[in-house]
Amino acid sequence: MNIIVTGGCGFIGTNFVRVLLNNEPGADITIIDKLTYAGKLEHIKDIRSKIKFSRCDIGNKKEIEKIIKDADIVVNFAAETHVDKSIINPLSFLKSNIFGLYGLLEAARKADLKRFVQISTDEVYGSKNSGSFNEDDMLKPSNPYSATKAAGDHLVYSYVNTYGLNAIVTRCTNNYGPYQNPEKLIPKAIVRALTNKPIPVYARGRNVRDWIYVEDHCRAVMTALKKGKKGETYNIAGENEKPNIEIVKMILDILGKSTDLIKFVEDRPGHDFRYSIECKKIKKLGWKRKYGLKDGLRKTVDWYQKNAFAVSGRIK
Ligand SMILES: NC(=O)c1ccc[n+]([C@@H]2O[C@H](COP(=O)([O-])OP(=O)(O)OC[C@H]3O[C@@H](n4cnc5c(N)ncnc54)[C@H](O)[C@@H]3O)[C@@H](O)[C@H]2O)c1
Repeated sequence: MNIIVTGGCGFIGTNFVRVLLNNEPGADITIIDKLTYAGKLEHIKDIRSKIKFSRCDIGNKKEIEKIIKDADIVVNFAAETHVDKSIINPLSFLKSNIFGLYGLLEAARKADLKRFVQISTDEVYGSKNSGSFNEDDMLKPSNPYSATKAAGDHLVYSYVNTYGLNAIVTRCTNNYGPYQNPEKLIPKAIVRALTNKPIPVYARGRNVRDWIYVEDHCRAVMTALKKGKKGETYNIAGENEKPNIEIVKMILDILGKSTDLIKFVEDRPGHDFRYSIECKKIKKLGWKRKYGLKDGLRKTVDWYQKNAFAVSGRIK
């Protein structure tokens, strides 16, 4: 199996490559990554000898065509991902998450791929005060990040329908775990607590997110990749919904630090109150989670304590 992982130097991509190496020992793995601020070669240092790496923008159709011409599978994690950044500069999100994806899809339809997996997000459905979205619900993204991801999903479906691309889309809830950039809530709280710096929390931490340990997400992607049906979408949920303030308090508790470190800050514009999806469809394919929130958070805190490079110099 010749498999291309785009965005493999980012948070979820590098974790996915590790799941691949553990579960598919014969796989020939190539990472394509542009190495933005979020993609780091340190993230693949320990596995570099086991994989190929190409520094390239997914929108560079010509280069991508050459790299993926003999591939069996493409899994696309490459994207701009930080909502706050998308509010300040939406253009870079349009470039990677829509035009970049277009370049990758064009190259993909010329290759003889067995499968294309588009990694999407629960944020495309928008906010939900009660109940949970399923895969057939309407998309109602409410910030530039989620709008570009929703556009990406539609673009992928159009390549299935128009060009027969054997693609699926997965939509996951909030991930946490090793290698996540400290711009995101959980690593930010860990890194700041470890260095005794105030932890900024929006809107008194009332916003609710559903949390999944990254390895569980990666195994779900493997399940969808192998067993999913062409053109289908698969939600992947952690089924661990919590207000952000509770997550921060759990982290402080694990580290034995005071809640005095919490600093409430002004909310961001258009902040979705709650995301919630159901995931019966991926469970029917045989996937189930391994990690509860407490265990997952402990493993994550442990990883940041042991990996100084993830803490020093990267505090936002
Ligand atoms: N983090 C989450 O909680 C979460 C939840 C659901 C879905 N997702 C989706 O999973 C994917 C990966 O998210 P992440 O948290 O690992 O992101 P990340 O920001 O940590 O990593 C993104 C990676 O993509 C690379 N990249 C960005 N633009 C590129 C381009 N044009 N060409 C090539 N490489 C490019 C970056 O260099 C980086 O290595 C994204 O598509 C995101 O929308 C993330």
